[in-house]
Amino acid sequence: MFIKNLSLSVGKEVELKGWVYNLRSSGSIAFLQIRDGSGFVQAIVDKKSVPEAVWETAQKITVETSVIVHGRVSAHPKHPGVFEIQVGDLKIVQLAEEFPIGKKEHGPDFLLDIRHLWLRAPRQWAIQRVRNTIINATYEFFNQNDFIKIDAPILTPTSCENTTELFGMKYFDEGNAYLTQSGQLYIESAIFSHGRVFDFGPVFRAEKSKTRRHLTEFWMMDAEMAFVEHVGNLEIQENLVSFIVNKVLEINQEELKILERDVKPLENVKAPFYRLSHEEAVKKLRKLGSDIKADHDLGGDDETTLTKEYDKPVFVEKYPAKIKAFYMKRDPQDESRALCADLLAPEGYGEVIGGSQREDDYETLLRRLKEFGLKREPFEWYLDLRRYGSVPHSGFGYGLERLVTWICGLSHVRESIPFPRMINRLKP
Ligand code: 4AD
Ligand code: MG
Repeated sequence: MFIKNLSLSVGKEVELKGWVYNLRSSGSIAFLQIRDGSGFVQAIVDKKSVPEAVWETAQKITVETSVIVHGRVSAHPKHPGVFEIQVGDLKIVQLAEEFPIGKKEHGPDFLLDIRHLWLRAPRQWAIQRVRNTIINATYEFFNQNDFIKIDAPILTPTSCENTTELFGMKYFDEGNAYLTQSGQLYIESAIFSHGRVFDFGPVFRAEKSKTRRHLTEFWMMDAEMAFVEHVGNLEIQENLVSFIVNKVLEINQEELKILERDVKPLENVKAPFYRLSHEEAVKKLRKLGSDIKADHDLGGDDETTLTKEYDKPVFVEKYPAKIKAFYMKRDPQDESRALCADLLAPEGYGEVIGGSQREDDYETLLRRLKEFGLKREPFEWYLDLRRYGSVPHSGFGYGLERLVTWICGLSHVRESIPFPRMINRLKP
């Protein structure tokens, strides 16, 4: 029996296997807060109605002791929908030593050092459940919309995004290998056999930034579509994000409550999202006090300032081409700008998706490689895609942890992934 199904067994005897995450005793009654992975429940041991040995066992229990409990399910007298267990029998599986996470406040470094134990805290439980829903919703959306999953390699001979943020290593007699920054270039080759594809896996960025938004290892989902241009690209993104948020609202109400997440802004996440050109974003930011230059990327603070102004996600599109990646197609109306967009989450969260239409012309792409100072040889295979049945195509990539952080309402990305990797953290 799992705790989440207790409502089906009111009045019946059940067996639960789990952990005591909190407890108190009032002399003749012990209250054990039990967690089994599926949920949380209070088990009540009444001294006068259990055998003496059971009462003694209850007295021995420490926080995080693993237990097997037998008892009758009852509905909570005051809170509808909440259930309790009137314990008849109780066995200790392992008596836990003194648990290092107690009632007092702990700093983030202490908690991150014992991340393997911190993952048990109710907040951390809730975050991982929401993360799981986002992953499943992503697969569901793509399955419903004629995409297939294509797995991109993690060891690569070249960069996909910024060459200054690569983790490299020696690779046998083949020279240097790099950990992938995004599977995009590889899944682009799969659109020619499957039309619409996506990947989902860990990516790596040797970012020197220590912000609340940056990890060095994170999970990215890249999607790529043949015969889809800039506007169609944005429509797929807003439909995907609306679908994901809606699934979380449907499945994770209990988790959102534990996280004290205000669900009003989430309920507002419905396509279409706002669209703003980079030029308009710069103007607006200057009015809001930023000193952003016309040809610069939005900084972290700019994203915070801008997205506090919006009650649902906003696309910032058509950035200056020179500050974006070499593979982006240019805007035919203004060659200095790329047909790209970042999707920024509201409430100060900022970028969750980066995407663009891709340059599909062989000669133009060759020229871009030169302009960006990239060698032709490692990209020869990527150029091939523009020689054999090239088509207009577009794609985008989301950062899973950025989505989790926003949807859960967290203040830092480090809590959104089970074991965060940051510039100053590799343990545990
Ligand atoms: O904007 P980025 O760099 O775009 C790409 O990598 C494209 N190749 C994707 C594509 O078109 N298929 O990264 C995509 C997303 C960002 O919007 C952000 O959500 C996340 O990945 N991201 C990070 N998340 C956590 N830590 C970091 N250091 C991140 N860098 C990017
Ligand atoms: Mg980006």
